[in-house]
Amino acid sequence: MRLGLIGFGNIATTLLGLMRQQGLRVEHLSVLTLPGMEDDTRARLDRDFAGAAEGAEVVTDATGLLAARPDLVVECAGHAAVTAHVPPVLRAGTDVVIVSIGALADAELLALVRKAADEGGARLILPAGAVGGIDLLSALGTAGGLTVRYRGVKPPRAWEGTPAAQILDLGTLSEAAVFFTGNARQAATDYPRNANVAATLALAGAGFEATRVELVADPAAPGNVHEYSVDSPLARYSIRIENQPSAGNAKTSVTTVWSVLREIRNRIGPVAI
Ligand SMILES: NC(=O)c1ccc[n+]([C@@H]2O[C@H](COP(=O)([O-])OP(=O)(O)OC[C@H]3O[C@@H](n4cnc5c(N)ncnc54)[C@H](O)[C@@H]3O)[C@@H](O)[C@H]2O)c1
Repeated sequence: MRLGLIGFGNIATTLLGLMRQQGLRVEHLSVLTLPGMEDDTRARLDRDFAGAAEGAEVVTDATGLLAARPDLVVECAGHAAVTAHVPPVLRAGTDVVIVSIGALADAELLALVRKAADEGGARLILPAGAVGGIDLLSALGTAGGLTVRYRGVKPPRAWEGTPAAQILDLGTLSEAAVFFTGNARQAATDYPRNANVAATLALAGAGFEATRVELVADPAAPGNVHEYSVDSPLARYSIRIENQPSAGNAKTSVTTVWSVLREIRNRIGPVAI
């Protein structure tokens, strides 16, 4: 596979390590990094991933990424990177896995990437990320009539640098505190690096306005806990996932990268599941 990565942080580097560990061969790797970060990214590629791909290069825009003729591009950088780089890649006919799904709470951006995928004959792939059960939610979503409630609970340090820090004293919190109640659009807009799950549930199920969200800081949280319930005329279920924070970024639940790995495995393996 010729793989393109947008971003070279926690998810991207963990993904490359897992692919090597799982024996998934990369023929060519291109990494899109922020301008000015090329030398640092190149050095980390050479130091930590020497031999991970037969050929590797670092680029700073979608044109450079596309010049490497990737079979698949995985975005794992953030909202700004989705806006800047994903539409041209899709328009050029290359499939893209978006990890920063919260970016799609921006209705204009969602319309833009859908149109770009349509024009390019490419597919936008939205992985389950930090949660599970998205297959069933998406199936029920098509039938309609859903009520979806999501509660995201993380330790206080995972909410540092977010509006929660203005609402709560995260350093001294001694018990669980709900600091956000609203819909998935507001959650994803206010907490872009922490509410990707809310956006994923909204896109799969009842939509951004109808998906109810509660965000909680809890010093006793056993990890990043994602709980949601679905009530539909066809079925009811609830799910609770106690996810561990990833080693490189406390805001990111560790299974996210495994979910991206699954997308790649399904794409190149003989069986998709
Ligand atoms: N879908 C989910 O369930 C889920 C779960 C966790 C995280 N995420 C999202 O995945 C993304 C990556 O997470 P992470 O833990 O790897 O974060 P990270 O901060 O460790 O890595 C992000 C990297 O992207 C780079 N970057 C930022 N803007 C860029 C741009 N415009 N162009 C190129 N590179 C850019 C940064 O320099 C950094 O190296 C975040 O947006 C996060 O919100 C999604």
